[in-house]
Amino acid sequence: MWTEKYRPETLSEFKGSRKEVEEVKQWIEGWEKGDQALLLHGPPGCGKTALVHSLANELDRELFETNASEARRKGDVKDKLEQAVKQRSFTGKDKLILVDEVDGMGRSDRGGRKVINRLLKETKFPLILTANDPYASGMKSLRNKAKEVELGNVHTNSVAARLREICEREGIEYDDEAVKSIAQRADGDLRSAINDLESLATDSLKAEDVKDLGYRETERDIFEALKIVFKSTSASTASDATEGVEEDYGKVFGWIRENVPKEYKREGDLSRAYDNLSEADVFRGRMQKRQDWSLLKYVYGLMTVGVSLSKEEKYSGWTSYSYPSTIKKMGRSKAARNKRDAIGKKVGKKLHLSISEASDTIPFLNLLFQKEEWKEELVRKLELDEKEVDYIEDF
Ligand SMILES: Nc1ncnc2c1ncn2[C@@H]1O[C@H](COP(=O)(O)OP(=O)(O)OP(=O)(O)O)[C@@H](O)[C@H]1O
Ligand SMILES: [Mg+2]
Repeated sequence: MWTEKYRPETLSEFKGSRKEVEEVKQWIEGWEKGDQALLLHGPPGCGKTALVHSLANELDRELFETNASEARRKGDVKDKLEQAVKQRSFTGKDKLILVDEVDGMGRSDRGGRKVINRLLKETKFPLILTANDPYASGMKSLRNKAKEVELGNVHTNSVAARLREICEREGIEYDDEAVKSIAQRADGDLRSAINDLESLATDSLKAEDVKDLGYRETERDIFEALKIVFKSTSASTASDATEGVEEDYGKVFGWIRENVPKEYKREGDLSRAYDNLSEADVFRGRMQKRQDWSLLKYVYGLMTVGVSLSKEEKYSGWTSYSYPSTIKKMGRSKAARNKRDAIGKKVGKKLHLSISEASDTIPFLNLLFQKEEWKEELVRKLELDEKEVDYIEDF
């Protein structure tokens, strides 16, 4: 993944927030035992983790890094962290400690916060905490013991600058318009801009390639909504997740159902989430049968707040959410859409249907293909080529 490949190694590769970067740098350099910790917060993908990494390189510090919920859950990680804050490094280098994503500890994880509070007192090295939301429940005690630095959204120009650097290193010939429009759409989230670039660029990036992002515009909203449902640990945040999403409740439901197992790894979390989804589905059925739209709030409530609060604590890291399989099959990429249309054209000609009506037959072709002799005959009659056959069989 390019977001990993192009993680900034040095401060010159780190984009935006110059003032804050300088502030954190000076804080590290001036830190003495007994000083406060530092709480670095800001929206996803703005570079919190990346900044700590590049500062460690720049200042030639040995970085000890862990993430808060992992430290809480895994005894050995916790032990290592406790040692790391006390012991000098073997290399003789100064150390820097990063406890990432402290807002990811569960609402009820008092034990976890107690451990961190103790470490803040004991640490012999500068210790940085990161969080998306410094006002998440349970964060108050940590906030009071740390100096706060906020990293805001990365400015569009800075996003574009990083995208250009990546294009150059990848040897991609790019239209500057295309780079700018990816940057604009990312809305301050450099991680998602890099992901967009990776999914669109081949050995060139033309303005028209970025039109595919237009096709994905409403999907961008739904990705945001998923991120909120899955990552938040508060009911009020989760209940606003679908605000502004244009897809209807059925689609939103499909997206959440499809992606729950990608995000939730612990069995209990997963089964609670599915319980909530099945409740939501019951309400959905009643609502439709009785045409009683006042029930819609329960459908949404169960699939957003219900699913969100099904986890004991936030899962850290970035999850690549996927399209519900039904939508996905309709073709995420331009190549897939082209193939679908080509099949539609061939089928349509034989069956006297429009291209789009004819593409609706693809699932049926898929079924028919399971019998070898039918497949052979259909392939011959419809004059399908190998790639089209693959597309139908993978459907
Ligand atoms: N300001 C930035 N300058 C350069 N690269 C960045 C910047 N912000 C993000 N990136 C790129 O995006 C990736 C993800 O950023 P990072 O992990 O630092 O985000 P984060 O703020 O820690 O997000 P989260 O809240 O999800 O943990 C980095 O590996 C890097 O490739
Ligand atoms: Mg991070």
